[in-house]
Amino acid sequence: MADKDDVKEGKEFYVDVPAKNEPFYLKGSGSLDWGMQNRLARIFNPKSGRTVMLAFDHGYFQGPTTGLERIDVNIRPLAEHADVLMCTRGALRTSIPASNTKAIVLRCSAGQSILTELSNEAINVEIEDAIRLNACAMAAQVYIGAEYEHKSIMNVSKLIDTGLRYGIPTLAVTGVGAEMKRDMRYFLLATRIAAEIGAHYVKSYYFEPGFENVVAACPVPIVIAGGKKLPELEALEMAYNACQAGAAGVDMGRNIFQSDCPTGMIQAVNAVVHENETPKQAIKIYEHVKNEIAKN
Ligand code: 5RP
Repeated sequence: MADKDDVKEGKEFYVDVPAKNEPFYLKGSGSLDWGMQNRLARIFNPKSGRTVMLAFDHGYFQGPTTGLERIDVNIRPLAEHADVLMCTRGALRTSIPASNTKAIVLRCSAGQSILTELSNEAINVEIEDAIRLNACAMAAQVYIGAEYEHKSIMNVSKLIDTGLRYGIPTLAVTGVGAEMKRDMRYFLLATRIAAEIGAHYVKSYYFEPGFENVVAACPVPIVIAGGKKLPELEALEMAYNACQAGAAGVDMGRNIFQSDCPTGMIQAVNAVVHENETPKQAIKIYEHVKNEIAKN
């Protein structure tokens, strides 16, 4: 323990070693404060610059989604292979043990259901609760072109403002109504609006052609949503193509937890995102894990 009896003066000051002033590795995040950057560094692996977010927040508007009937049973075994758990506070407090050390991205909006207008949501989590839950980011939708577009933009703006006070980043999720075209024109508009209002990163769907233009025009990182369940190889191809086009990873739900081998699938997605493994190589990881589980 330090005490005043034997105070030694410093003598090695490394005067020939210039102090390093390293730029922060994440796109558009160089001018953020330390706490904000540190939380982003827990989300985006500093080596690959990318993230595998496991999304299981679907219940906030669609109840017990297939594959999420029991979050404690379905999701817990997958957590070790994810960088981030994206969920509601209800799922977190009830079904994820606090010994979890993976970054949490907290769903902070609610107010609608699959039976009503999806864009009519509001912020439902106060910043104090996000802090209590040790969230690394807060998330809500921007519904560009939808009935409640204005409200959703102001929801995300509120999260950004309150998060900035405490160093908690905001993820803007580009919500797409059923009738909206998922093309370059739409996502150029939606992702750029999200970044310009101050979101620290943006979730978009993947599409072709032109996804790389959307990434280029968005000054903060883009992660892709998985969307509806696809055959495993196709989902891996989507994640691969998105990352090769500049996406900073995935925020994937159904294509992992609705797979017939979620543990194999998340490991395959991990290899694609962090190791640039090709889909053909990565599918072998999925198949191997699936076979091993079948043997036991
Ligand atoms: C729900 C969400 C989900 O987190 C998102 O859609 C990701 O899940 P999936 O890969 O199943 O599309 O934002 O509003």
